[in-house]
Amino acid sequence: MKLKDEVNKRRTFAIISHPDAGKTTITEQLLLFSGAIRQAGTVKGKKSGKFAKSDWMEIEQKRGISVTSSVMQVDYDGHQINIVDTPGHEDFSEDTYRTLMAVDAAVMVIDSSKGIEPQTKKLFQVCAMRGIPIFTFMNKLDRDGREPMDLIGELEDVLGIDAYAMNWPIGMGKNLIGLYDIYNQRIERNLNDETANEERMVAIDDNGEAIGDFDFKASTIYSQALEDVELMQEAGNPFDEEAIMNGQLTPVFFGSALTGFGVETFLDAFVDYAPSPSPVETIEDEKVDPLQEELTGFVFKIQANMDPKHRDRIAFVRICSGAFEEGMEVKLTRTDKKIRLNNTTQFMADARENVKEAVAGDIIGLYDTGNFQIGDTIYTGKNAVQFKPLPQFTPELFMKVSPKNVMKQKSFHKGMEQLVQEGAIQLYRTWHTEDYILGAVGQLQFEVFQARLLNEYNSEVTMEPMGRKMARWIKPEDLDPKMSSSRNLLCKDRFGHPVFLFENQFALNWFTGKYPDVELESLLETE
Ligand code: G4P
Repeated sequence: MKLKDEVNKRRTFAIISHPDAGKTTITEQLLLFSGAIRQAGTVKGKKSGKFAKSDWMEIEQKRGISVTSSVMQVDYDGHQINIVDTPGHEDFSEDTYRTLMAVDAAVMVIDSSKGIEPQTKKLFQVCAMRGIPIFTFMNKLDRDGREPMDLIGELEDVLGIDAYAMNWPIGMGKNLIGLYDIYNQRIERNLNDETANEERMVAIDDNGEAIGDFDFKASTIYSQALEDVELMQEAGNPFDEEAIMNGQLTPVFFGSALTGFGVETFLDAFVDYAPSPSPVETIEDEKVDPLQEELTGFVFKIQANMDPKHRDRIAFVRICSGAFEEGMEVKLTRTDKKIRLNNTTQFMADARENVKEAVAGDIIGLYDTGNFQIGDTIYTGKNAVQFKPLPQFTPELFMKVSPKNVMKQKSFHKGMEQLVQEGAIQLYRTWHTEDYILGAVGQLQFEVFQARLLNEYNSEVTMEPMGRKMARWIKPEDLDPKMSSSRNLLCKDRFGHPVFLFENQFALNWFTGKYPDVELESLLETE
């Protein structure tokens, strides 16, 4: 098949959600519908005892690589879908954010009884910064949740994104009659799995009423849903494909990942609307066309091996253009070194395979012996390409760190420098005393840092938690060292830029009240 056809088939996305909203369950449904697995419960392997992903977890554990590295590739309805996992819970780290740099779209799964939760909001903000399309799935409709109107309103109020309901629940929980499918202009009845599609789907007439003789038409739940739909269509946002593509409008789908109800309808619309790989910008502000022949790609994540017996790592590369073939030679822009890509993996639903071919939009894992850093660009062709650096994310957790053995300062510094450069963790120094402070977005980053420093650099460290802080950057010209107090510790980042670590929101408010003309910044881009 031609490169163009292959690339256009790709849909590379991440699922953003708060733990327990249903990310795993919806992923599993996707695998079911695509035929990659045959039985629900296989991804988690909790219920059925037949595993897909859990087998794979064991392989990963043997290799000492955590399952956080998962990227799944499946065929769905003629499309090649790449789901890039965004680790949550205790695995939440900067990698979770960086993963979002490697996708073309996001699916936001929300628990409809809870609404928007903190982790969803954080991940949403990163997607919004990139302006990628975000598709919302309001999950757990089989349970009583919040009013749909309320949930839609919350998207707009809390996240600041316009919403367009693609379908509307007719009831919920035990009284879930079905979905009023605005997008496909039909009603999807909540019947059991075995029911044929023809029976499940009911056409609607010009007045928006279900055509045919159905008991549910007498129900107030049904008439309420019709009223809501009418109201949404009159007063809500219009459907605007361009706004969806720019991430300004999110299409919202209701459903239940657990029962599968509404999932297929969602997925069908998703693969239709989600973009194929888009051009990627270089530091010269040029755009690399995904359909160009020459291969380009960037490293967005390095998964270190926590097992001291195996020193290898996996560098995750998002292919931005062209086609990859096993054994091909590429150049690494940062070092100008040639590297032969022999040992590469691609990630399927239930296994890792040696990848022979991949194209723009795909993600491949390269076994790395220390050549790669996060943000590295690889390319073939005559002209060197360097993509824009990946952004750095405002850390929230901080730790004072020092070498246990003062005689081993050298290995401590070397290890620290390399791990920071690699993007495993962020480093700060106190402004006056130059103490080392590590910053992370998740606890796991500290643990990985400590283990790697010991295993790879033979340096044992003492870590002293400083807890949660709010890091805010200040322009050097606005800085007066007297501004620093015990509640806003003045530090410098690794580029020497001044940054305050505020104890809490109260301390931050106090500061902005006292210095109203001083502009503070959070999410910062690397230079
Ligand atoms: P996550 O990956 O986002 O963390 O969530 P996950 O899919 O693991 O789902 C979290 C819990 O919510 C699971 O229950 C799951 O079964 C349940 N769940 C997911 N989607 C739905 C839904 O549409 N409706 C209902 N009612 N529940 C849903 P659990 O009890 O933690 O695990 P399990 O033992 O049932 O697997």
